[in-house]
Amino acid sequence: MSRMMGGLVLGVLLGVVLTPLAVLGWFRLGNMPVAVADKTLPLEDKLEKISLDARVAKEQPKIVPVAADETALNGGAQVYRDHCAACHGVYGKPVGFAVHMSPQAPQLWLPRVDGKGVGVSGVSATEIYWKVSNGIRQSGMPAYKDTLSSNEVWQVSLLLTNADKPLPPAALEIVHPQGAPEPGK
Ligand code: HEC
Repeated sequence: MSRMMGGLVLGVLLGVVLTPLAVLGWFRLGNMPVAVADKTLPLEDKLEKISLDARVAKEQPKIVPVAADETALNGGAQVYRDHCAACHGVYGKPVGFAVHMSPQAPQLWLPRVDGKGVGVSGVSATEIYWKVSNGIRQSGMPAYKDTLSSNEVWQVSLLLTNADKPLPPAALEIVHPQGAPEPGK
């Protein structure tokens, strides 16, 4: 082996050994963003979104087996009150700690900043169904497939996709507590 080849091999070997050690050292020195106030790593949010979108596209149900009727929307509102409102709020009553989470818990009854809906209205019920069933890792969003029935998850998904539409009175009473105006008013 020529001297040049030898040097090259040594260089590659050192790189293979030293790079992971340097990365490990960086972790051990407490540099990873682990506190809520820390800045996310470059590309962290983007890569997470790409991965989540791809997974949802692959696994979300193809059909919605439950009709978005009064029973479903009222049932969805009860599920929402009991399992979701603590983090995602109701209209006019945003949850104070939600912005002190990383990622933040979106307030699902707030009109969107793009002015095109309320919370996740318009996002397909099948996508919401996947997220509520499976949860979102490292975010605080729980997986509900073992604690809610499939029907309950469909009902709350149908409620959220229709959050900007007229809702039956019993559902409105829960997600728009007395005194709070209806969406868009
Ligand atoms: C302990 C707090 C907590 C509870 C309880 C909770 N969530 Fe979440 N949820 C989160 C957080 C935090 C996120 C943001 C995740 C992210 O951005 O990656 C989230 C994200 C979501 C999203 C995705 C929003 C988007 O913009 O795509 C939906 C839909 C959702 N939650 C619905 C629900 C429903 C329905 C329930 C009740 C059955 C529920 N969540 C209960 C914390 C919570």
